[in-house]
Amino acid sequence: MTLRSVFLGTGSALPRRRVTNAELALQVDTSDEWIVARTGIRDRYIAGEGETTASLATDAARAALAAANVAPGEIDLIILATATPDQTFPASATIVQASLGINDCIAFDVAAVCSGFLYAVTVADNMLRGGAAKTALVIGAETMSRLLDWEDRATCVLFGDGAGAVVLRAQETDDATGRGILASRLHADGRYNALLNVDGGPSTTGTVGKLRMKGQDVFRHAVVNLAGVMREVLESAGLVANDIDWLVPHQANARILDATARKLGLDPARIVVTVDRHANTSAASVPLALDTAVRDGRIKPGDLIVLEAMGGGFTWGACVVRY
Ligand code: ACO
Repeated sequence: MTLRSVFLGTGSALPRRRVTNAELALQVDTSDEWIVARTGIRDRYIAGEGETTASLATDAARAALAAANVAPGEIDLIILATATPDQTFPASATIVQASLGINDCIAFDVAAVCSGFLYAVTVADNMLRGGAAKTALVIGAETMSRLLDWEDRATCVLFGDGAGAVVLRAQETDDATGRGILASRLHADGRYNALLNVDGGPSTTGTVGKLRMKGQDVFRHAVVNLAGVMREVLESAGLVANDIDWLVPHQANARILDATARKLGLDPARIVVTVDRHANTSAASVPLALDTAVRDGRIKPGDLIVLEAMGGGFTWGACVVRY
């Protein structure tokens, strides 16, 4: 038997307002044809009044707790991955904690932008297996719309808001067939800051700043890094690409998904794609896609899945799970 972090349930939340490409084209010089052809994106959800990263995270957490049949009082660890916290401090994880009525548990945020959920899951997995906690809420939540330069058509059409959450519990499972996280790998290379960043912050400009990106350079690095880390994580789990039932990738761009799948020789029919509906929701995108595929019945207990993401930093990572 091996102690593993087992996924007990998933949940997600989206803002009330859906925005189509056609609606964006009324605001910036773009078109539905350009956005669909270059990215695969058709819709995104944009947070409105009263909707924040922590409120979306709380809604996703409640849905995950219900699916897992776990009471808030059983949670002893909350990790929230986000690049768009409600406040500079305290951590938005503590806002979620208070909203859920949990008076004492470990709660903190993780900042790794689009890879944030992979980082958060890996930290939670190590804390659960190390005995620091027993049952964790791991959440990815963002309101990227509030960091966008709505006059920059090359970036503002790409992102959306939302949240996804999972409940993980440390459980003794069968070595060969047991459920849980089997392997994970994380990377960062801070030399690439200038290719994707937000041009502000409390310690520099004193303002929040706006998202800036050199899209083509990011694209090239994403395909190479994602294929590399997936090979690495599969090898460390003793698996090959063909063993995988579902790939749940970060949803940045349909062309990145296609190119990465081709590089790995993965059947495109086994990739969960939600970028058309949600656009790039940064740290929320992997748990949102996971929850979508769990709820529509594609991903079932016992399936072998790979989660992967790459984002600003650069940071990137992947994780193999028997769901
Ligand atoms: N509508 C219409 N035209 C546009 C738009 C738009 N929204 N945005 C840019 N254009 C124009 C450009 O001005 C340019 O025009 P020009 O040829 O007259 O100069 C033309 O389209 C081509 O622009 P490129 O930037 O070369 O377009 P490209 O094919 O590289 O597509 C894109 C841009 C979609 C951003 C692509 O580079 C990409 O997806 N990169 C990955 C970035 C990404 O997903 N980042 C997310 C965060 S990191 C991550 O999650 C992995």
